[in-house]
Parts: sequence; C-alpha cells; structure tokens
Amino acid sequence: MRRIGVLISGRGSNMLALADAVATERIPNAGIAVVISNVTTAAGLERARERGIETVALDHRGKTREEHDRAMAAELRAREVDLVCLAGYMRLLSSWFTREFEHRILNIHPSLLPAFPGLNAQQQAIDYGVKFTGCTVHLVDEELDHGPIIKQAVVPVLPDDTEETLSARILIEEHRIYAEAVALMLGGKFKIEGRRIVQRQ
Ligand code: GAR
Repeated sequence: MRRIGVLISGRGSNMLALADAVATERIPNAGIAVVISNVTTAAGLERARERGIETVALDHRGKTREEHDRAMAAELRAREVDLVCLAGYMRLLSSWFTREFEHRILNIHPSLLPAFPGLNAQQQAIDYGVKFTGCTVHLVDEELDHGPIIKQAVVPVLPDDTEETLSARILIEEHRIYAEAVALMLGGKFKIEGRRIVQRQ
C-alpha cells in the first residue's frame, strides 16, 4: 500500500478527486495517509474528515517558511508518506522541503505551464486572450510552478468566459489528470530525463 500525503489551503476539490480515485482504484494500491492544511479553517479539512481521512491543521503564521515546512515534513514522515500532493496549497515551499522530498512532490496548476504561473492563472489566460488554456500536473522543484511536467489537459477559452466559468471547465480536467498523474508516479513506470518525464511500458 502506497501512502499519499495531501497539502491543501482551501476547499480541497482536488484532494477529494484523489480520494475518489484511490477508493475506486484508478489509483491502485494506495491510500491518503493524511491531509495537512496551513489554513486551519480550510473547508477541505472538514470534507476530508467526513471521508474518514486523518487531518492536521498547521498554521504557518509566526514561523519561518522552513520552520513550517519542517513541521509538515515531520507529520508526513510520521505516516511514512511516499508521495506529497499539493492540491490548492497556496504557499511557496522552502528549498529545504523540495530537496527533502525531491521527485516526490506533485502540484496541480490551472494553466498550460510554462504559461501563466502564479496566482489567478485562469484570469491571466482570459486577459492575455489565449483561445486555449488548461491544467498541468508537474513535479515540484525549487522554482514556482516549474518542475518536470507529468500530465497536461487542454481546455478552450470561450468568448463569454468569466474567471468562474473557465475555472469550472478547467477543474473537471484537473480532477481527471491529477489522479492519472499520481497513478503514473506511484506505478513507477517512468524515467526522468532532464525536464522530460518519459513513460515506460
Ligand atoms: C485549483 O484550481 C488548483 O489548480 C489551484 O487552486 C485550485 C484549488 O482548488 N492551484 C493553484 O493555483 C496553485 N498555483 P481545490 O482546493 O478545490 O483543489
């Protein structure tokens, strides 16, 4: 049984999509060992508890970034987590943390990276006038929204889209590709060549 730790800051719909994929074995032989939030009031914490998933609230305020990350790492290690999934975790990670879990941290981002990194990626896409955007699951390295790409999905931007309608259309694809990416990483049938993740049969 492979063990997944999920970091959230908000509503946690990607976390729930991963929980569903584990339950239905689209992510085979795995379990969510813990959901950790840096926002103690995050709605996703309650939704995880409703599913019987263990949760930890770790307020980042009043600590340095690395102090906070070391506290998270202690919780993850205590549960022998194999993979760390950022699911709407809206804080930068320290380089200490990214090194400690190198090639074992995944992030989902609501654009086709390297386009539109950072906050409000869906609004950035509308403002730029692109006709297609999407979402990306990637390995996390020391730079923001930057590491090797595992999966992407393309989503059209429609003329009347608002941030809300576009975000909702992208979110459906996020939930699908995040589960696929986690299954791929835990399955181990890939190799990392520089920035490229190459699937093996
Ligand atoms: C998702 O759209 C995710 O891609 C985005 O935050 C949302 C979280 O929703 N993440 C980022 O923008 C990270 N840079 P959720 O809490 O319902 O999963």
